[in-house]
Amino acid sequence: MKNINEVIVKENYIDPVMDLFSEINKLKKEKNAIILAHYYQEPDIQDIADYVGDSLGLAQKAEATDADIIVFAGVHFMAETAKILNPGKKVLLPDLKAGCSLSDSCPPDLFKRFIDKHSGHLVISYVNCSAAIKALSDIICTSSNARAIVESLPQEQKIIFAPDKNLGGYINRVSGRNMVLWNGACMVHEIFSVSKIIKLKERYPDSKVIAHPECEESVLNIADFIGSTTQLLHFISKNPSQIFIVATESGILHKMQQSAPEKTLIAAPPDNACACNDCPHMKLNTLEKLYLCLRNENPEILLNEGLRLAAKIPIDRMLTLSKELNII
Ligand code: 13P
Ligand code: SF4
Repeated sequence: MKNINEVIVKENYIDPVMDLFSEINKLKKEKNAIILAHYYQEPDIQDIADYVGDSLGLAQKAEATDADIIVFAGVHFMAETAKILNPGKKVLLPDLKAGCSLSDSCPPDLFKRFIDKHSGHLVISYVNCSAAIKALSDIICTSSNARAIVESLPQEQKIIFAPDKNLGGYINRVSGRNMVLWNGACMVHEIFSVSKIIKLKERYPDSKVIAHPECEESVLNIADFIGSTTQLLHFISKNPSQIFIVATESGILHKMQQSAPEKTLIAAPPDNACACNDCPHMKLNTLEKLYLCLRNENPEILLNEGLRLAAKIPIDRMLTLSKELNII
């Protein structure tokens, strides 16, 4: 009988001289697989992916694909969303430990009690949450469509917004709503230093500060443009400015620089000694782990069918509303 350590070593063995790019492409064809990657993934993963996008774009691609296997290079809630939309397909995540601090900030039992305390409220949840939170929600949204979805509802509609208090607070301010906010936040988007961004702005007076709405209000207040990752990417290409201070996870600088090579991009400085804005969860995925998960067809996302069906209802509402409101 084989020793368990021997099996694990064999499962994870990669020939050191192997060209991972060509092997991944070969496996993709053989297995009719598609690689979907978020902008926060490392550059090699973005370059080999079939599609790189924001949470909305990735959910839309996952819904439309006819591949047999989806390799989701992102974090757990994203791969889980792909599985909710594709029960018959194999959905793989290169590292099953790739979670999300924002999703973790909203435990289902506490959220259920929170909902019970606010009767008559519609529950809108940001896609950065677990399937169990989705199942407790009426509509899911992403940073691309959150504002439009909220504004499509009657002004007097009472709403709970979860789990991101920063995105919810931003929508409250721009839409004049008074949504009840769950007290969650993203560990990456809460580290930016307003005073250091202001100093950079003084050094580069013609620069534009662009920020993701998961950032704190003090950062959003000094931003020239606020948007989802895709919206930030498009802003850089379209805006005539040459220098941009980017307040979001640093992985997106790769695509930004590819789409606007002539522009200067500066990652917004964090308020700590560490000089990077990397998401530790997103960065758990590597090209090696992506290769192994496609080769071994694991780790796989598996979901209880009842939970999947309940979580799918508010995601379907979001996808339908996004089409109706023409948000891509
Ligand atoms: P978007 O790419 O949808 O803007 O979301 C950002 C994010 O934090 C994903 O974890
Ligand atoms: Fe979650 Fe923030 Fe990382 Fe996105 S950047 S996966 S919201 S912890």
